[in-house]
Amino acid sequence: MKRKILAYNFEFSETLNRLRNTYDVEIFEGINPKTDPTFLQALSKAAGIVGLALPVDKELLDRAPKLKIVSNNSTGFNNLSLEEMTKRGVMGTNTPGVLEDTTADAIFGILLASARRIPELDQFVKTGNWKQHLTRKEYAIDVHHKTLGIIGMGKIGSLIAKRGHFGFDMDILYHNRTRNLQVEEKYNAVYCSLDSLLMESDFVCLMTPLTPETENIMGEREFKLMKKSAIFVNGSRGKTVDEKALIEAIRDKEIYGAALDVFQNEPVTADHPLLQFSNVVTTPHIGSSTHETELKMAKLAVENLEAGLSGKRPKNLINPEVLNKFNKGV
Ligand code: DGY
Repeated sequence: MKRKILAYNFEFSETLNRLRNTYDVEIFEGINPKTDPTFLQALSKAAGIVGLALPVDKELLDRAPKLKIVSNNSTGFNNLSLEEMTKRGVMGTNTPGVLEDTTADAIFGILLASARRIPELDQFVKTGNWKQHLTRKEYAIDVHHKTLGIIGMGKIGSLIAKRGHFGFDMDILYHNRTRNLQVEEKYNAVYCSLDSLLMESDFVCLMTPLTPETENIMGEREFKLMKKSAIFVNGSRGKTVDEKALIEAIRDKEIYGAALDVFQNEPVTADHPLLQFSNVVTTPHIGSSTHETELKMAKLAVENLEAGLSGKRPKNLINPEVLNKFNKGV
């Protein structure tokens, strides 16, 4: 009998076609993985799962006794309970190395859109309000030659620094768990404490992964430290921000505006208070979402899945301890 693979919210599912000779591939889109009976039934037989943002927790793992690998179709893997997976000998993989420039473009894009009020002024034109020359009511703020503070200087953070430094003559400040000497050398980035970064930056760009240390890293105190003229940009994960504190900071004009690609709960609902402000630019977690990059990610996710299922070490294994623990020899 063929071993089962589940694809969950996996847009380029055709990349799985060549595995169909060997595996029984079942595709799931837009279902609730906690309650969908067909999914739960398939899960009990699944050897591999590939897809985006499936919450792989103890409860799911308890229902998946045959599971060997979860191949995440993203770089972020905060949806995986790695400790539980490792305990049970389940490999986890992600898709780094193919989406960093694309994500940096998107996050720099929303920074620009927010500073220059592009979505708001697009609506101004389309709703017939452009009837005379612009007045200061429509003016925006400059990006070039300002100070860009980046919290989380990994690969994507570095590429945002590159864009700011070379493209916009910006001064770069950064805060990270460890110093990143490359960005200091290449983009004149200056390492500083979180508080100094918040106090001195004109744009505060949050790019950390979501971990217990970074959950709600931006709260009331942090927004109060920011300049009133500064814009907050979130390209990390929604749970890194206390959204209530952000709503208050915007409402009380503690900061100039925000650009958000991620939310505590996604998809965000239209009645969310953050969506009611004209100075909050929002996008639906578009970081890596271009045709070219999503296809590359899907191919990499399938390669990782196939390697794990055929007893080889997947290229992007994120819990290598799993190999020692069970001496799987991959
Ligand atoms: C990633 O790869 O982590 C992006 O945020 C898409 O989820």
